[in-house]
Amino acid sequence: MNDHLKRLIERHGSVFPDTGPVRVFFCPGRMNLIGEHVDYNGGHVLPAAIDRAVYLCMSRNALKRFRFNDASFDASGDLPLSLFGAGAVVPKVWLYPAGALALVRSDWDEGLDLSFLSSIPPGAGVSSSAAVTTVTLYGALSMLGLPINTVELAKLGQRVEREYAGVACGIMDQFAVIHGRKDSAMLLDTRDLSFEYLTIDSSRIHFVLVNSGVKHSLRESGYNDRRRECESALALLRGMGAGIDHLCELGPAEYERMAPELPAVERKRARHAVTENARALDFHRLMRSGDNAGAGALLYASHASLRDDFEVSIDELDRLVEWAAPLPGVFGSRMMGGGFGGCTITMLEAGAAAGEFAREIGARFQSAYGGPPQVFECTIGEGVGELAP
Ligand code: GLA
Repeated sequence: MNDHLKRLIERHGSVFPDTGPVRVFFCPGRMNLIGEHVDYNGGHVLPAAIDRAVYLCMSRNALKRFRFNDASFDASGDLPLSLFGAGAVVPKVWLYPAGALALVRSDWDEGLDLSFLSSIPPGAGVSSSAAVTTVTLYGALSMLGLPINTVELAKLGQRVEREYAGVACGIMDQFAVIHGRKDSAMLLDTRDLSFEYLTIDSSRIHFVLVNSGVKHSLRESGYNDRRRECESALALLRGMGAGIDHLCELGPAEYERMAPELPAVERKRARHAVTENARALDFHRLMRSGDNAGAGALLYASHASLRDDFEVSIDELDRLVEWAAPLPGVFGSRMMGGGFGGCTITMLEAGAAAGEFAREIGARFQSAYGGPPQVFECTIGEGVGELAP
């Protein structure tokens, strides 16, 4: 049993001494190799589950209440079984687990105790919220003995984001943290949710995340704005006769032909969606043929597109990519996730390169911004599951 787990179970027993037998679940965070801001445009994404997770200890209580404890934030609270019923106020810290419990069933008749402990850095853009939501959904369904369909589970997780957190997100994060497989990324077609695994040879390639530490308040509103702008571009293109249901269905040549008629903002957002989808497919092909340098070049192109056409990058992320490029062993680098903060992902040759990379980036970040960035190497792990207590 790992130390996280031991600590969590002990804490659960001391915070809830009157509770029933425990079960323990975990759900990882995710990284995304390429395919950014295309999961709500019918594009292809290439995420993977990381080796950091939210652990959840769950048991029944006889109090007809949900009781929560979070060891990472040292927070606790309790809510009625009706959760979001009339007059209820759900504190922000419990929004995701409460939303998940409310979607699992609307007529809870017995209480649960839930203790969380996370090894995922919060606010780094590695989907700690998808992990908390998914582990709660998975745990609650398991406690009720209900069957779990993994695609439906991802859709429920997405509904929690939309209905309770107000973020009109795509399905990439939830899908990735559920379907994660050791040493594999997954190429997901977000149009029909079909996917295939791509083996990542961890003896040759490493992925390193560098957290800018910027948790921008624009993240949610900026994200929803981008989504609306993409919808507007799609509507305009359809009005011009494009026979598409999603922006990413437009081929690059068709885009070039129609782009001059689009207003400037829609033109840029659509260009990002169309080119990023093509890059994700090319990246997958190049990685399969072992062309790491070719694949890495696409990461830089993805960053430039997110910065210039999609306008979701920030100065810290641009600098991190720029500093990474000349370092030994670096294949490519880009900002990752929704943007307006969060982290970069860098693809590195395995071996000594990671240590030097961390030192160099750390020193440059420190002198530019006055504090060290968080640099973490991620191995690719398994998706959501139950652990033996
Ligand atoms: C966030 C969203 C995802 C996806 C990414 C950008 O992580 O939750 O659905 O849109 O941003 O690729």
